[in-house]
Amino acid sequence: MDDPGDVPDGRPIVWLNCAASLDGRIALADGRRAQFSSPEDLVRVHRMRARADAILVGVGTVILDDPSLRVHWELLGERPGRDPTRVIVDASGRTPETARVLDGSTPTIVATSLRSRRTFPASVRTIVAGAETVEFPVLLPRLFELGIRRLMIEGGATVLASVVRARLFDRFTVYYAPVVVGGSTAPPIIAGRESRSAEDEVRLELTGLERVGEGLVATYVPRRASASDA
Ligand SMILES: NC(=O)c1ccc[n+]([C@@H]2O[C@H](COP(=O)([O-])OP(=O)(O)OC[C@H]3O[C@@H](n4cnc5c(N)ncnc54)[C@H](OP(=O)(O)O)[C@@H]3O)[C@@H](O)[C@H]2O)c1
Repeated sequence: MDDPGDVPDGRPIVWLNCAASLDGRIALADGRRAQFSSPEDLVRVHRMRARADAILVGVGTVILDDPSLRVHWELLGERPGRDPTRVIVDASGRTPETARVLDGSTPTIVATSLRSRRTFPASVRTIVAGAETVEFPVLLPRLFELGIRRLMIEGGATVLASVVRARLFDRFTVYYAPVVVGGSTAPPIIAGRESRSAEDEVRLELTGLERVGEGLVATYVPRRASASDA
């Protein structure tokens, strides 16, 4: 995970990553897990994970995919090193007790809200970062205080929406697989609130385009406001 030019003040560098179909879906119907990444893209993703201090996902992803959020060092041809901290955004305490992220194998943080009464195993650190929901402008400085300088956010659609809407990211990489999913229930890259006018859109700048295996990786940064935006 190389650093973008400008290092943000008081929060980690935030790099968003997801794998999508050509029609911009990140899973199959009703959120069923999909494997869109090619073998070459998996190497890219695990290299990113290995360079991150922490990997964050939402509780929706934990429930639907049950990811381990660990680095698959064997894909990198490297001896196992330090795994990044796992961060789960779970405002109401819905993480299943049997979830792999609670297996105690690597440092894990559950970011939650005042409305959660849930307790977690002693190995899990909890951070209250909001009253009703997890507020990223509150959470990110708390993670920074814990020494997390590089944060990779892998999804899902609702978490990506919050972070992108708040413009709290420095780089967004999307692997587009040559696959079409279709339908109306497969989650898009970004869910969340509707855009009803141009002012609601979030503008990005394309900074890279690379063929990776049978797909392509597009890299975006938030677009800075220019005089022509006024
Ligand atoms: N292809 C890929 O790269 C990829 C990667 C990851 C996930 N996925 C897919 O994404 C889908 C899951 O996405 P999802 O949208 O259902 O769930 P999600 O984004 O993983 O988690 C969303 C949940 O997080 C909690 N949350 C708390 N505070 C939040 C905040 N400020 N902003 C956003 N969420 C907050 C909310 O639940 P509470 O209110 O209960 O806390 C919310 O429902 C699955 O189908 C999975 O397969 C795909």
